[in-house]
This record gives sequence, C-alpha cells and structure tokens, in this order.
Amino acid sequence: MKRLLITIDGPAGAGKTTVSKMLAERLAYTYVDTGALYRGIAVAVRDAGISPDDDAGLETLCRAPDIRFVRAENSLRLLLNETDITGRIRTPEITMLASAISAKPVVRECLLHLQRDMGRQKGLVFEGRDMGTVVFPDADIKFFLDAPLEIRATRRYREFQGENRQTLADVERDMRVRDRNDSTRRIAPLKPAKEAVMIDSATLSPREVVMQMLKYIKESLDLF
Ligand code: DC
Repeated sequence: MKRLLITIDGPAGAGKTTVSKMLAERLAYTYVDTGALYRGIAVAVRDAGISPDDDAGLETLCRAPDIRFVRAENSLRLLLNETDITGRIRTPEITMLASAISAKPVVRECLLHLQRDMGRQKGLVFEGRDMGTVVFPDADIKFFLDAPLEIRATRRYREFQGENRQTLADVERDMRVRDRNDSTRRIAPLKPAKEAVMIDSATLSPREVVMQMLKYIKESLDLF
C-alpha cells in the first residue's frame, strides 16, 4: 500500500498530539511533533540568554541547530546538542517563548529545512501549525483539528494540573495570547490549508477523531 505523508494542523489543545500519535500507531507510521522543535529552539534561546527580539542572536543560534528526535523504549526524546531536553519543553515559560520565536523568519527558515529533510521518507504524520500550508503543500492528506478556546484550555489544564501551578484562567489566558500570536504572524500563520479536512474535536473523543481520519484516508487511498 502507498505510504503517505499526512499533516495535522490546528491550535493548541485541539487534540493534535494525542490524535497524531494514535493515527501514526494505527498506520505504523512515524509521528513528528514539530511544536517540540520550536520548543527545543526556545530552550536553546533561553539557555543562551538571547532575547526573542535579537534577530542577529537568533540567526547565529539557528545557523546549524543540533536538534533531533531519538526513540527510547516507547517514547520519543528530544535532543539538543546531544542533551535530552524533553523534560524542559512543556513549562509555561518555554511554551510562550516558543510562540514568540516561532514568528521570527530566521527560526522558521531553519526549521523548514529540518522538517522537509525529515519528510523525505514516507509513512509520516506531521503535527503542527503550518504543515499543510507551508512545509508540505503537496502532502497527500491534510487535516485541520480545532475546538473552542474554553474546551482546549480545560483539556490543557487537566493534562498539566498540579505540575505547572497554573490556574485554569492562567492556561486560558496564555492560550488566547498564543492563538493570537500563532494566527496573526506574518509568515506561516496558523490557518487551514485550502484542501484540509476540517474536524471539530469539541464533542469527539480522540478515538472518534482517529476513526474519522482513518475513514477519510481509506476513501482517499482509492484515489492514489
Ligand atoms: O504545538 P505546540 O503547542 O507544541 O507548539 C508550540 C509553539 O510552536 C506554538 O505556539 C507555535 C509554534 N509552532 C509553529 O509556529 N509551527 C509549527 N509547525 C509548530 C509549532
């Protein structure tokens, strides 16, 4: 059977990560979380003490980013300069920094190449914001997963409850800022590709979303 390149875009908390992992597993595909790459660059920016507005500093840092995923037992780890930074990328500070630096052309440019290199093999599920619009405009199948802000914030709050010491209101406030940053930036803003299949996850379980996706993929496969 033809191995496809599938993209899943959408805002934070829409369920992309859970669904992308489940879909990749069902298809025996490789899953790539591109948000983790932006978060990894944010960790590098933070450690280097560079301001997100320092374009020259960002350019030097992004010239040759040594950032990659490695498989360990049954999880994927993110390595930055050979150091495992997986445990550092989900803090509220890195989350907001990742959104800020992701608006910078130099950061997007370096990750664009990295992501396209990863996309050379087939049998992939790429999750992000601009996978179907910019990084892989020729992807075989494109999904856009969305849900209302309150629902997405509640999900994220439950996921991290106790860990980040954020209230539900904090999570919702950060998510609103991120939604605005991510969808109004000049390059590669968050938006559905023209041909993306839109799925509203508000009232669906991750399994139900994956079933809808598999149904669509099966129907489309007849066309390939
Ligand atoms: O999916 P995430 O929440 O882990 O992404 C973190 C940030 O990275 C997000 O606020 C915007 C940015 N991002 C992006 O600009 N493009 C992508 N393809 C993925 C993430």
